[in-house]
Amino acid sequence: MNPQLLFARAYEEEAGKLIPSEDRPQFHLSPRTGWMNDPNGFSLYKGVYHLFYQYNPYKTEWGPMHWGHAVSTDLLHWRYLPAALAPDEWYDISGCFSGGSLTLPDGKQLLMYTGVRKISRDSTDMLQVQCLAVGNGLNYDKYEQNPVLGGDDLPEGYDPYNFRDPKIWQEPDGSYRALIGACTEEEQLGRLLLFRSDDAFTWKFESVFAENDGRFGLMWECPDFFELDGHAVVQISPQYMLPEGFEYHNGNGTVCLIGELDEARRHFTWTHDQALDYGIDFYAPQTLQIPDGRRIMIAWLQNWDACQNGRKEQKWYGQMSLPREISIREGRLYQQPLRELEQYRRDCVEYKNVTVQEETVLPGVEGRCVELLIKVRPKDPEDLYTKFSITFAKNDKFHSSLSFHPQDCVVKLDRKCSGSRRAIIHQRRCLVPDRKGELTMRVILDCFSAEFFLNDGEQVMSAVIMTEQAAREISFHAIGGVEIDVVKYDICLEENGDETL
Ligand code: FRU
Repeated sequence: MNPQLLFARAYEEEAGKLIPSEDRPQFHLSPRTGWMNDPNGFSLYKGVYHLFYQYNPYKTEWGPMHWGHAVSTDLLHWRYLPAALAPDEWYDISGCFSGGSLTLPDGKQLLMYTGVRKISRDSTDMLQVQCLAVGNGLNYDKYEQNPVLGGDDLPEGYDPYNFRDPKIWQEPDGSYRALIGACTEEEQLGRLLLFRSDDAFTWKFESVFAENDGRFGLMWECPDFFELDGHAVVQISPQYMLPEGFEYHNGNGTVCLIGELDEARRHFTWTHDQALDYGIDFYAPQTLQIPDGRRIMIAWLQNWDACQNGRKEQKWYGQMSLPREISIREGRLYQQPLRELEQYRRDCVEYKNVTVQEETVLPGVEGRCVELLIKVRPKDPEDLYTKFSITFAKNDKFHSSLSFHPQDCVVKLDRKCSGSRRAIIHQRRCLVPDRKGELTMRVILDCFSAEFFLNDGEQVMSAVIMTEQAAREISFHAIGGVEIDVVKYDICLEENGDETL
């Protein structure tokens, strides 16, 4: 094993011990130590879920990318394994960027990742090539003939400095595919390129799989492709988006494209697009189909444009989203929290037909590691209220909120008083369909995050909140006549912890 990886493994083991579990999210995966971004190689290998992640063990900032590694049997209890990859070869010396994984016919696990290297000391440009590593779920050897794809394998007019994040899979006929983010050299417009291999080691360009016509940002990062409920789906994380109403916001975004695959041309076109998450923090999702048929999506619960919200004393930065079950209903992607989370509901508190006042506090409804099921409706269907809001992670100093303005069909997430001292984005809005003041929400709070699943997962809004844990009050507010039903559970994951991994 290369010294860089050995060093990283020894370092993370020690440094990881210094982070008490109370100082982390309880069921959202955070880095063992240091910095985490994108999920990588999300897979089921030998009966265990593996999640790798973009990882800089040494700092709570982005830096030389390693692949961190964690395993789980239920996608909620995670156990750290030693880092899987370190940047230690000439072709990945500046970082092992994002990628995917699959199981080879001989039972080994194959990782494909993007190796990057700066071309000179002063340049920030990094050449990007695709590399392989083969392992047993714990240790991985980089392939001797790396890189397996580089600038020379790109069609004419593509930029070798923007060629990254392979998603790999095996086709029913046994051949392999890699879908990789790329970019035209001149206009810098994102493309997804498809590569083919018969043995998973020798790869050839097959087709331009999907094209950015300029509507969705510039470069497309971290592509995913899968069939879901009879539709072909592509997910991308475009950089430098322009806003479009309340659907897409500026900067790094996530887009779900639902359409069709032309099998002969190996080309994807879409008829529907939507944002994957309408909140502040969600990027670079990967999906995995699990044995019972559900497709699970997990993303980095963060946004590049809103990264400077760390707490000084915190020795980790970045976390994953809750694993989400995704489905397509009437042409639209829906998301639900992973249903296994329901096993960990404790201490149910329930209220029905509560008339919300200017400020309504419901005894027993509080906490930072909780689930809330809320149904909101007008008290008088003939008299639409002006505003309903829920305030959470609250004490005398701090609070965050989600508010609903039914007359404009706008939902607004606001964390500006969550404790951040930085002038980064703290609010985001989305439009919901007009249901005459009715709104349902399922809220998942886990110490440092809030995820709001609106109207049965039709839309989701997520944000990181670094608020001190003492801020645990929850209250409801109304302008006009509002009635709500509320169910609250504490989420307690320690019990039934899986010690068998
Ligand atoms: C997306 C991304 C990827 C890249 C990785 C580097 O968040 O920029 O395109 O592989 O992060 O850490």
